[in-house]
Amino acid sequence: MTRYADLAERYGTPLYVYDLDRVQAARDDLFASLPEGFELFAAVKANPHPEVLRALREGSDHACRAEISSTGELTAALTAGFDPAEILYTGPGKTDGELDEAIAKGVRMFSVESATDLEHIGAVAVRHGVVADALLRINSVSASATTSIRMTGAPSQFGIDSETLVELMPRLRAVQGVRLAGAHFFPLSNARDEDSLIGEFRNTVAVAAKTFADTGIEPRFLDIGGGFSAPYAVPGRRPVYTRLRAALTEILDEHFPRWREGFPTVACESGRYLVGDGGTLLAGVVNIKESRGRTFVILDAGINTFGGMSGLGRLLPVAVSPDPEDADTAEWTKASLVGPLCTPGDVLGRDVKLPPLAGGDVIEIPNAGAYGPTSSLLMFLGRPAPTEVVVRGTEVVSVSRIEHVRTYA
Ligand SMILES: Cc1ncc(COP(=O)(O)O)c(C=O)c1O
Repeated sequence: MTRYADLAERYGTPLYVYDLDRVQAARDDLFASLPEGFELFAAVKANPHPEVLRALREGSDHACRAEISSTGELTAALTAGFDPAEILYTGPGKTDGELDEAIAKGVRMFSVESATDLEHIGAVAVRHGVVADALLRINSVSASATTSIRMTGAPSQFGIDSETLVELMPRLRAVQGVRLAGAHFFPLSNARDEDSLIGEFRNTVAVAAKTFADTGIEPRFLDIGGGFSAPYAVPGRRPVYTRLRAALTEILDEHFPRWREGFPTVACESGRYLVGDGGTLLAGVVNIKESRGRTFVILDAGINTFGGMSGLGRLLPVAVSPDPEDADTAEWTKASLVGPLCTPGDVLGRDVKLPPLAGGDVIEIPNAGAYGPTSSLLMFLGRPAPTEVVVRGTEVVSVSRIEHVRTYA
């Protein structure tokens, strides 16, 4: 019996398996592709499991910091042992209640999406008698690479339009309770290749230097965002960036001659690269049916378990392990992989190449450690959340499941 078959038998399906050794290997590889002295924020949204997060800050000289966007993510990060001083709070809709809790728990660094967002942060900080560091998130008019998920250059809820910044400065400078401590960029996710990534960073750092020069903000902290890619629910390996370190060093030397002394401290962010390949989803085959010449393999894992973000049209279809490239596929056929929900939208993939399957079999969906349960339609149709097993090699570290409970006021 394979290791995954054994875990599926012990804990049932649908089952996520996260391997902490692989998560830490990804973390170490990413730090090794960045210049010495870089900070790296782990985007909690990609996988908020506390043990996965804990692995990202332990076990190496290179510890990640945490990027969060909600009170739930704050709890996950604190449970995982992150020092609140290591946390960056981001997002366009920070409520008073969320800001209150974050500041009460010691978070002191916020990404700022607009003048009003800064005013909200300042007002809460003043109430707590503290000063919060504000990184102005910039929605730059210019961008470089063609990317799969672009978050800049267009009208957006994210970031301050770069062309309005100078005019806005008197209003921003008047806000009490905050120190304008630097800038934040997150122009793209999942870059197509290393050249696109380097091109985007080149543009970002140049825009950052101009922003600091135009506004007179002291460059203490500069978060240049991410774009580190990873295969999502298909076989394959995450990239190893061999030229990035030298390229970033050269780009920063050109624009920020004192960055090696920490002026500014430079940071990146990553979600999928850090946790994507550390996770595998095991799904059980509940039924197989034919309809008008098409085969439907019906799984116990649908968009309630995985791929809920497929509504954004960018993530699916999935494929299963082993990679058809490495397998004897003489008997493989194509079928639709669907979930158990009563909606025709519950499709994980069409025309997926599959080995011979029968009810009761378990399939493996590889590279499923990022944007899994918590970015799916967990509560839709009232099925339980999938079980999540954390392993380190062959050792089982924990077995858990998210519960939904209704509470009455
Ligand atoms: C501000 C911010 N940081 C980090 C991430 C993580 O992105 P990825 O998982 O592609 O690394 C996102 C994703 O949308 C984001 O919006």
